[in-house]
Amino acid sequence: MADGAFDLQAGLLAGTVATPPKFGGFPKYQFIGGHNDPELIPVEGFAEAAAEVIRKHGAQLAIYNLGTGPQGYPPLREHLANRLNKHRGMNITADDILITTGSNNAIDLATDLYVGPGDTVLIEAMSYAVTINRLKKRGANCVAMPLDDKGIVVDEVAKILAGLKAKGVRPKLIYTIPTVQNPTGSIMPLDRRKKLIALAHEYGVPILEDECYADLTWKGIERPPAIRALDPSCVIYIGSFSKSIAPAIRLGYVVADWSVLGRMTANKSDGGTGALDQMITAVYCEGNFDKHVDTLRVALKEKMEAAVDAVEQQFGTMATVHRPEGGIFIWVGFPPEIDVTKLVAPAAKAGVTFNPGPEWSVDAGANKNWMRLCFALPSKQTIYDGVAALASVCHDVYGVPKFSANTKRGA
Ligand SMILES: Cc1ncc(COP(=O)(O)O)c(C=O)c1O
Repeated sequence: MADGAFDLQAGLLAGTVATPPKFGGFPKYQFIGGHNDPELIPVEGFAEAAAEVIRKHGAQLAIYNLGTGPQGYPPLREHLANRLNKHRGMNITADDILITTGSNNAIDLATDLYVGPGDTVLIEAMSYAVTINRLKKRGANCVAMPLDDKGIVVDEVAKILAGLKAKGVRPKLIYTIPTVQNPTGSIMPLDRRKKLIALAHEYGVPILEDECYADLTWKGIERPPAIRALDPSCVIYIGSFSKSIAPAIRLGYVVADWSVLGRMTANKSDGGTGALDQMITAVYCEGNFDKHVDTLRVALKEKMEAAVDAVEQQFGTMATVHRPEGGIFIWVGFPPEIDVTKLVAPAAKAGVTFNPGPEWSVDAGANKNWMRLCFALPSKQTIYDGVAALASVCHDVYGVPKFSANTKRGA
């Protein structure tokens, strides 16, 4: 710093985030983040909806929240209520919904109400990194709920809750992603959902259900109802348009009893979620949403198959792939001696980015030999090329895999 220059950093709060490097563009093989496929954005439908809605209602943009109140654009909430009733087994009206700026905003608003420093939260052992970090930043004690290929092992959660109760601890929330778990890709079956609700009642712990991938299940509407549909009394439900339409429109939603939803609405002090996004999405979705997600599902499943195939071709038996039941990513495991965090820097140099397992784990040291690859953004060819580049980096660092698509490396 030059002499006499003002030190903007001097008064920063202790423990504040470190200054990150500036965005330098996407790498050639981008397997991180939860992006969507640019080819599958309903551009024409959105353009028509935008023209229609701006001409009809554009003048309302003069008023915060379009003058329709802080819960969000009523036609969008009506569309959502109908859809969640039809497809997720709920029985709600538009009044039970708050539109948020992405579901991240919803997670913030919910955790704001419940989680303070020192509070305990139960969260899937592998989970959405942003939620894990957010809870830890709040000073929460995050307790990992074990997972298997059907989601949370609920019988183990019963033991965890009993153990905490014996110590006088009542957790503030159970955070779960039951329908296409992030990162493992499982769908929690009905019996486990019911058991989890029973535990929520027994121990007085609300469930924060995050269903942002529920529209993207390979089997379409054949999936268990939302946990909130089974028992609205103990569940705060969160959803998003990010994965079913586009993440950059920044639209999420919460469904909860007014005692909580009203408080979240009162705390949402941002002047309202972007009204144009809400209006355009509402007009587009009415009549188009189901058809759109049907197309999306088929295309994403093909990409998932390509990603699994690419990993199997390049890594052979040294990789274990969790074939997801929907969504946009695969969770890939390697032998314990492979620490994927050591691959991050050389992979980035080779133009490949991926999410290392520890970042997606409640216990920061766990899953060092796992990684998450998002397959939605790259084309199929880019997936194959990117996984080949990743395998080559792994070979440079660890000497394995020795073969690349059946050919000995260096032969
Ligand atoms: C489980 C989960 N919840 C919430 C989000 C946040 O999505 P958004 O804020 O874009 O709605 C994501 C994004 O990847 C996610 O994976």
